[in-house]
Amino acid sequence: MAALEAFDAVDLIHVKRDRGELSTEQIGWLVDAYTRGYVADEQMSAMTMAIFLNGMTRREIRDLTMAMIASGERMSFAGLGKPTTDKHSTGGVGDKITLPLMPLVAVFGAAVPQLSGRGLGHTGGTLDKLESIPGWRANLSNEEMFAQLRDHGGVICAAGSGLAPADGKLYALRDITGTVEAIPLIASSIMSKKIAEGTGALVLDVKFGSGAFLKDIEKSRELARTMVGLGEDAGVATSALLTNMNVPLGLAIGNANEVRESVEVLAGGGPADVVELTVALAREMLALVGQVDVDVEAALRDGRAMDKWRDVIRAQGGDPDAPLPVARETHTVLADRDGVLVEQQALPFGIGAWRLGAGRARKQDPVRHAAGIDLHAKPGDTVVKGQPLFTLSADEPERFPRALEAVEGAWRVGAPGEPVQDGGPLIVERIGR
Ligand code: URA
Repeated sequence: MAALEAFDAVDLIHVKRDRGELSTEQIGWLVDAYTRGYVADEQMSAMTMAIFLNGMTRREIRDLTMAMIASGERMSFAGLGKPTTDKHSTGGVGDKITLPLMPLVAVFGAAVPQLSGRGLGHTGGTLDKLESIPGWRANLSNEEMFAQLRDHGGVICAAGSGLAPADGKLYALRDITGTVEAIPLIASSIMSKKIAEGTGALVLDVKFGSGAFLKDIEKSRELARTMVGLGEDAGVATSALLTNMNVPLGLAIGNANEVRESVEVLAGGGPADVVELTVALAREMLALVGQVDVDVEAALRDGRAMDKWRDVIRAQGGDPDAPLPVARETHTVLADRDGVLVEQQALPFGIGAWRLGAGRARKQDPVRHAAGIDLHAKPGDTVVKGQPLFTLSADEPERFPRALEAVEGAWRVGAPGEPVQDGGPLIVERIGR
């Protein structure tokens, strides 16, 4: 005889539909029964839509997060002998920060377990970028990951499917039912994976703006506050930076070109915005494990961060000296007049790079590591007619027209003195203790 179920999914849907509050037991059962396949996709879609429309209390969000963690394994770095500190970004165009950040923080003796993902749609994935380095391996066993953290202080690898498996199933369902952008669901999805990963400290880079997952700053702020609360409740020292993603981050959008730009930052150079965010996040990650007043910039200037990068890339089979892939074809767009670049919208440039082959439309698609866009000017720069503004790179020239279509109207050279898009700060606010 089948075991008696504690609740009926339809009753729980009624509660949320009618703006009621689900109990801890009800949420625990719902997530478990959905993971087991007892609660059907149709029922869970009704539930996620009810949550999307009516929200959840802080207690309900915490229970949902804990139930998703309980659906899989929970890792622990307790035996490592050093503090662990991690970063999660909600994703954006040209966001390669994890690459210079991980070695930079590891220089100071903290261990950085970066369990990362692949890109889907216009936002790139850290693993896709690193896989443009010949030999580099994303898939490590738990033992290999632990050993690398112990011996080298940092690792960037694929998150195993054992962490919060309920989230994988739920996220795929939300993706096809228009329920991704619900703050209780996003917060529990991100934080269940990060808490299950076992990091002691976590810094969240929560983006807003045209290239971000949530465009509206108020929604991003609410997401940041919710996630910081979940982290603290679970005993993970957590803070968040609210950062602007209206303009692409840095000058490179793609995979191999983003690795190149990250290496420039590690060599003490690189675009000012990438350096600013890398340094701010490194300070935050170190402060959460008790290291304040560390001279993070010095480690970029004096080669320590670069040495650590080479060390961790080699530890995962990569050759830090091997040439990175270069696309067979390029197409450069020139300034159409003398003036100032007043606009450069992140989302269309992200879509353009994706159409060149840098991203994937379906999970199983491969990415073209050499494809992408290199910007030669940023908003506020003075330009002269005929000066290169950006270059598209692809292996197949037939990809250029659709990429050009994506960026059409997304950049503009204006007269000197015209207001420039997003003259405001990159880092708008810090949220946390
Ligand atoms: N990233 C996640 O991991 N989950 C979400 O719900 C949204 C973004």
